[in-house]
Amino acid sequence: MLKFCTIALPRDPESPRCGPGDLKPLPAARIRLNFHLQARPHDYRHPPLHRTSGAVVNATHLTLIVAFDAQRGIGIRNTLPWHLPEDLAHFKRVTSGHPIIMGRKTFDSIGRPLPNRRNIVITRNPAWRHDGVEAAASLLDALALIGGQRGFIIGGAQVFAESMDIADQMIVTEIGHTFECDTFFAPLVPGQWRESARESHHSKANGFDYSFVTYDKAN
Ligand SMILES: NC(=O)c1ccc[n+]([C@@H]2O[C@H](COP(=O)([O-])OP(=O)(O)OC[C@H]3O[C@@H](n4cnc5c(N)ncnc54)[C@H](OP(=O)(O)O)[C@@H]3O)[C@@H](O)[C@H]2O)c1
Repeated sequence: MLKFCTIALPRDPESPRCGPGDLKPLPAARIRLNFHLQARPHDYRHPPLHRTSGAVVNATHLTLIVAFDAQRGIGIRNTLPWHLPEDLAHFKRVTSGHPIIMGRKTFDSIGRPLPNRRNIVITRNPAWRHDGVEAAASLLDALALIGGQRGFIIGGAQVFAESMDIADQMIVTEIGHTFECDTFFAPLVPGQWRESARESHHSKANGFDYSFVTYDKAN
């Protein structure tokens, strides 16, 4: 039996930490969430629900967006291993207007909130704050903040790994070259993802091929 109710989430009095820019604070400290009264195994009619802070989040509208190299490398010394402006433009085009969720280290590597997107940073440090950014104590708390909207997990490796089972879509920039990396995207679970779109390109400046690939959750 599926019922709906409104749940007050515990909030830091200074959260959300929105700046004067284009980021808007949450309308209120209340988010409408799908609330399941009975535990039941999920099937195709009832997408998986996840518990957070006493609430339950329907997290079926979640996309991982990642660029990885031929060995699934994604980072080196807390930065990107490559310079591929076409991928940055693709990332901006896809994520603009949507909430983005990232680990604290990825936020540190970017250094500022990305404009025209609601920026949510996951950290275990309750004192962490930054203008224009909302902090969440866990992935599921971050999902509770965005309610049923489509959100994008933008990294890094820790947060990708934690969200892989929850996400319903991945948008991957597959780079046909191997770079020196110290951070890697977890191997895909066989059968978990089905490729639904692929757009291939060649970077003349870098001399390698890359593809924008969309994967949908297979079950
Ligand atoms: N190629 C790409 O598409 C791409 C995208 C993004 C990032 N990157 C790269 O990936 C690297 C960073 O990835 P990373 O795996 O080292 O770090 P990360 O996932 O960005 O951040 C890890 C941090 O997030 C917080 N965190 C993670 N899970 C949490 C949880 N369940 N609850 C609360 N907080 C949690 C913790 O922050 P606290 O320590 O503050 O508690 C943790 O130290 C960098 O090299 C970056 O450039 C690449």
